This record gives sequence, structure tokens and C-alpha cells, in this order.
Amino acid sequence: MAERPQVLIVDDEPNMRRVLAALLEREPCDVLQAGDGLEALQVLDDNVVHVVVADLRMPNMDGIELLKKVVARDPNLPFVVLTAHGTVDTAVEAMKIGAFDFITKPFEKDELLAILRKALRSVRLDAAAPAPAAPGESRRYRIIGESEPMQQVYAILDKVAATPTTVLITGESGTGKELVARALHANSRLAARPYIRVNCAAIPRELIESEFFGYEKGAFTGAVTSKPGRFELADGGTLFLDEIGEIPLEMQVKLLRAIQEHEFERVGGLRTLRVNVRLIAATNKDLARCVAEGTFREDLFYRLNVVSIRLPPLRERVEDIPALCAHFIERFNERLGRRIEGFEPEAMAALRRHHWPGNVRELENLVERCVLFSDGPRIGLADLPETVRGAASASPDAVAADPLALKTQVKAAAERVERDLIDRALRVTDHNVTRAAKLLRISRKSLQVKMRDLGLREN
Ligand SMILES: Nc1ncnc2c1ncn2[C@@H]1O[C@H](COP(=O)(O)OP(=O)(O)OP(=O)(O)O)[C@@H](O)[C@H]1O
Ligand SMILES: [Mg+2]
Repeated sequence: MAERPQVLIVDDEPNMRRVLAALLEREPCDVLQAGDGLEALQVLDDNVVHVVVADLRMPNMDGIELLKKVVARDPNLPFVVLTAHGTVDTAVEAMKIGAFDFITKPFEKDELLAILRKALRSVRLDAAAPAPAAPGESRRYRIIGESEPMQQVYAILDKVAATPTTVLITGESGTGKELVARALHANSRLAARPYIRVNCAAIPRELIESEFFGYEKGAFTGAVTSKPGRFELADGGTLFLDEIGEIPLEMQVKLLRAIQEHEFERVGGLRTLRVNVRLIAATNKDLARCVAEGTFREDLFYRLNVVSIRLPPLRERVEDIPALCAHFIERFNERLGRRIEGFEPEAMAALRRHHWPGNVRELENLVERCVLFSDGPRIGLADLPETVRGAASASPDAVAADPLALKTQVKAAAERVERDLIDRALRVTDHNVTRAAKLLRISRKSLQVKMRDLGLREN
């Protein structure tokens, strides 16, 4: 996001709006306010809003009405619901309609900030779901790429999308796993039902169980109300377990039971709950290898791996690069108010040579930067970052072909070490960029720049 994202706060109590606005003061966003649903719609008409935080009970047009209108206009706009004690049922209804998350009043400041940051982060990703069909785009799935490896992906999607079959999506980081998960849901019979995503890597180990299965009031300190988990929220729809390879072993047993028996208990709860969900899981890990190493349960692996879709890394489908570039240029032109026409042939040749460790996300980030900074109407070789311009020298082929070329080898090794350290720092801090930057002893800003260059995302 180039401009600062705007958060719209909708609440009929001016005091509540003031408190929320004050909370967001130090966040990298701007705040807009509205006193009820009708006013909120007006604000949405006149502004580009990135996240909505709305109370449920309001005069004129209440939160649920507003949510329905917002979902109809832009299903990707994250909508966070504020609810009072004892109205959790309405909050659940809101989640099923398409709310991003909900929070019960009175809330902890950190809890609210965590949800809002999550919502703000999702904006970039969600905005990626392309609206009109672009050239080179699979019309049915809104996924760019006509290459042979992608045709194989579409062929599997054709077979399984409409079925309730469990699907495991694998592929390196940034290859489009989440995009495919959404496409599966959107093309299933459950398209109008909830689509709930859980990023297993972003949840601290001790909270995974309550995030999956929910908890009862008093189950642990801080559990001031009961809250349904993601399985319950996804009932009747799709549950997308992202980064499934990160689930700790002890949770895998419980997950297996929930999948096999369709039942579970909330944390601290006695009642057994039954749900019916279509499961999609994704990982950039080699789960078969994790099984061999003993970090992933074999039975769970087979449960998830009913049908698997492997997304090819970008370097295995370089023929899709021009279409992807055209698509991203169009998007960023519009978003950044620029009129870039395309890449010069030498620049395109360099893009095709690059190794793309961060795959499509890395390409997307690169195009955004080029669109923003390029002087002329066409992006030239000189506009590309050094890592891509010099790609031929540090690509694995060159590394293998030239084992004693000092510069090539050192550069490749340095990139590997850098990537590895950043990856580790993010893991131990549960993807908290500020803390990871501290561990790495670099500024938050430079970590973010490096993460973008390497195609790593923030959560
Ligand atoms: N084929 C594609 N067409 C258009 N956009 C794509 C395609 N593949 C990926 N993208 C875009 O690239 C970005 C990364 O994709 P996505 O988040 O689905 O990757 P991922 O495989 O889930 O990555 P990670 O393992 O890091 O979570 C998104 O912005 C997505 O919209
Ligand atoms: Mg993903």
C-alpha cells in the first residue's frame, strides 16, 4: 500500500469513537468516523476505506445491515465487528455473513490492535483478487497463467472444486496457494457460505487450540467471555488451514480428531460440538519429509492429502511472466495513479532469467516498486533492483556452472544466509516484524525492505 490505509470507525457513541481513534493514533493509518450505518455508507462512497470497525447496535442502520451492504459492495473489505457482552451469537452471525473478525467489549487494547493489524495486513493480499478478467487469466478461476504447469493446476481444480473433498495445496512461498484456496471455495457449492482462513504460523503455540476450537468463559486468564473457534465459524462452509506444516505435534492429534470425527470441544468446555466443513490446507513445506522426520503425523498427512495440488514455482513457468507483469502493472497504475506501459525487452529478459525465490509475490512487489519509481513510460533494465539485474550471475545454474567464481558464489551464499536468518527471526517471534528486526539488529524499515525483496510477507 503506497498511501496510508484508512480505517473507518462506526459507532453511535462519540466516546467510543474517540477511544478507538485514540488507540489508532500511533498506527500507520488514518481514521474516519461515522455515527451509524447510513453515515458509514456515505463515508464509504466518498473515500477509499481499507478496514471498517463497526458496532453492532446502532440507530438508523445497525452493524449487521451495514455489514451486508459492505459485503455486497466489496467482499474483500475487512469488516471488524464490535459487540457487547452476551451478544456473541450476533457476532457469529456476522462472521458467517463475512465479517473479518469480532471483538467483545470491553476489550483489551492489544487485542484490538492485533485484530486491526491483521485486517490491515490482509488488505494487500485480498486486494490482489483481480476483479475483471485480464489477458492470460484463467477466466474461471481468476488466476493468471496459461502455461502448461498451470493448465495442470486448472485441470485438478475443474475436478475437485465442486466436491467436498479435502485438498492439500503445496508450493513454495508466494506461488499462489491462498489464491487457489479462494478459487476452490468460490467455485464450490459452498461459495455463499463462510470461508474461514486460519494462518497456523501466525498463532502462538499456546493459543492454537482456542483459535481452532474456541473457548468457554473462564477457561484461562483473559477468557472473559466465550468465543467460538474457527471450526465453528466455518460450519457449512470452507475452512482453510494455511501453513499447516507449522502446527505443533500435540495439536495435530486434536486436529485429526476434529477432521475425522467432525467433533471437538471448546477449550474449557464440556459439550461436544459437531460441524460440517470442507477442508483446504496449504503449506510450503514438504510434508512427506516432515512425516519422515517425525515432525508431522502420518495419519494427519493422509487425511489432508486426499487430493493435492502442487503449485509450480515461477521459474518453472517463465512464460507466464509477461501476463503477470501486465496484470500487476495495470493494478498498480490504477492504485498509484501512474501510466506505465510495460517493460523494455532487456528488462523482461532479466525477469525471465531471475530465480524468483519469492515467486509471484516477489514479482508483484517488484512491479509495484518499478511502477512507482520508473521515470519513463516503459520500465528499463536500470529500473530493476540489482538482485534481478544481476540475476544471471547468481542464479543456481550459474552457481553450479561456475563453482570457483568468487563473486557469484559469495553473493549466492550471502543471499542464502540472509534469507535463512530473516526466516528464523520471523519464526521465533511469531512473525512480529518489530521484534524480529531487534533480534537481527537492523531497523524495522530495513527488515521490511529485505522481506519484500526476498518475497517474504509479514504474517
Ligand atoms: N497466478 C497468479 N495470478 C495472479 N496473482 C497471483 C498468482 N499467484 C500469486 N499471485 C499473487 O501473489 C501473491 C502471493 O500469492 P499467495 O498469497 O496466494 O501465495 P502463497 O503461496 O499463499 O504464499 P505463502 O506460502 O508465502 O503464504 C498474492 O498477492 C497473489 O494474489
Ligand atoms: Mg499463503
